[in-house]
Amino acid sequence: MKALAAEIVLAEHDALVAPHGGALRELYLPAAEAEALKRHSASLPQWTLNQRQLCDLELLLNGGFSPLQGFLGRGDYDRVVHDMRLADGTLWPIPITLDVDEAFAARLPENAQISLNDIQGTPLAVLTVEDVYFPDRIAEAQHVFGTTDRTHPGVAELLDRTGSVYLGGRVQGIQPPAHYDFSALRQSPRELRDWFHQHGWHRIVAFQTRNPMHRAHRELTLRAAEQVGAKLLIQPSVGRTKPGDVDHYTRVRCYKALLEHYPRDHATLSLLPLAMRMGGPREALWHAIIRKNYGASHFIVGRDHAGPGKDANGKPFYDPYAAQELLAKHEKELGIEIVPFPAMVYVANRDVYVPQTEVLPGDEVRDISGTELRRRLQQGDTIPEWFTFPDVVKILRERHPAQARQGFALFFTGLSGSGKSTLAQAVLARLLETSSRPVTVLDGDEVRRHLSKGLGFSREDRDANITRIGFVASEVVRHGGIVICAPIAPYDGARSEARQLVEAHGRFVEVHVSTPLEVCETRDRKGLYAAARAGKIKGFTGIDDPYEVPATPELRVDTSQVTVNEAAGKVFDWLVSQALV
Ligand code: PPS
Repeated sequence: MKALAAEIVLAEHDALVAPHGGALRELYLPAAEAEALKRHSASLPQWTLNQRQLCDLELLLNGGFSPLQGFLGRGDYDRVVHDMRLADGTLWPIPITLDVDEAFAARLPENAQISLNDIQGTPLAVLTVEDVYFPDRIAEAQHVFGTTDRTHPGVAELLDRTGSVYLGGRVQGIQPPAHYDFSALRQSPRELRDWFHQHGWHRIVAFQTRNPMHRAHRELTLRAAEQVGAKLLIQPSVGRTKPGDVDHYTRVRCYKALLEHYPRDHATLSLLPLAMRMGGPREALWHAIIRKNYGASHFIVGRDHAGPGKDANGKPFYDPYAAQELLAKHEKELGIEIVPFPAMVYVANRDVYVPQTEVLPGDEVRDISGTELRRRLQQGDTIPEWFTFPDVVKILRERHPAQARQGFALFFTGLSGSGKSTLAQAVLARLLETSSRPVTVLDGDEVRRHLSKGLGFSREDRDANITRIGFVASEVVRHGGIVICAPIAPYDGARSEARQLVEAHGRFVEVHVSTPLEVCETRDRKGLYAAARAGKIKGFTGIDDPYEVPATPELRVDTSQVTVNEAAGKVFDWLVSQALV
């Protein structure tokens, strides 16, 4: 009875498209064997997977890369690079390889097994090394990406950040990589196939994306699904995409919001842990094969699918329709139907979205590019409802607040007695008078009582003091706050390190308080200059210790020439002119 039931399940599953190569190759061992292999793995050479390798391993193990059963050996690799096929002739366009450094490869014994670990040292799989080889990475770039131009992110990674030795061989899975984010949306090919089966979905059109989706994408995917009479699988890549893309946490929140705007039971969302290579046509072919493994019968290929943009000469790397052409050429052999789609544009006079190819003479076409969208978000400009849904805009605005709500650091530097602290207090008052934004002050003296307690005034200690200030400032800015720092900060190197720390998250505004030494010394509020002149304090800045004048601060103010209020006004006006407040 049991066997019969299993056969029935299989027969019904057969209604879904067959995986690439005929069978889903899941490489996880049964629980008891996996446990034994895990114990054994501790005695093997250990390899920590980088992010790309980790994504590749996950898709090898769960069958997303069927029919592959491990990382490519030399024979498969050469054919994939040159002919887009495995050694047995199966279509496969992107080399899935495990690159290591020469020193690691040299230490491997004959017929080695190695433990493949995540960054925490958790063993995920064991590779039985069948092949160790030096690839020609220039040739690989030329064939796979069609270029050796490092402006291409896939090429830059291959030539500059890929180990010079590849290890090929079968992998046996111990456990899947851990994901703590959106785990309910991370189905394996088998889980997704089961879900389709349970919901009676047999014709499924998959949509790949690495960007937030807006109305144009909704219209495109709905039309594509309607055109081929299929349900829709929105399956964004969340492993690694193009550098500078919107982070996947934000994107997934946007997709979830967008999903509410689809007709009920017509669309589903599932995340793909894919490390994209931005390989244009070849990558599109790879995407289609992966979707077939996940059970999709159709795959949407849009304009410039997986294209990385323009090369060093400003020319697009790939013809915008090259991916569609390559897939059409292999469609029969692929076993998944390709749904090529032109870009959708908004026609204002008719208040509809249409494929670019269906625009009529006299139509008023509107579009908002990615760059324009980023500009509008940054400046807090309106984003029209014809372009996207308000709930999607809300998520994007939370992640990319308008500049006037982004954090920044105001970094006053200058001699002791130059007026840094007074100026900091005056600017603080203006900020608090005009807005309710949080402001933190890191004044020189105060910092030395807490954060930098115990540090002296050697160059080393002063640098440590400024680095600490820079670190705290960067955290404040990261959380969208304003921070005002007022140390002497006499050294260029430490100031630029603080700048670097802060600029990872927002603006760094350096204000040189350039009040001349004579004036500072005359003021001598704390009597320190007199003490320094008398030799009672050694290494006092400006007397017997250097102050390196900042060459290009955002602002310079001399408090011997203007009143404190005027100086604070100058700083505040500059912040307003930069749309920071
Ligand atoms: S640094 O160089 O940036 O780490 O200095 P900073 O932490 O801003 O200095 C804080 C105050 O320490 C007093 N002080 C000295 N300054 C310079 N040189 C020496 N040797 C020294 N010894 C003590 C000085 O009053 C600094 O405060 P301000 O407000 O600048 O006068």
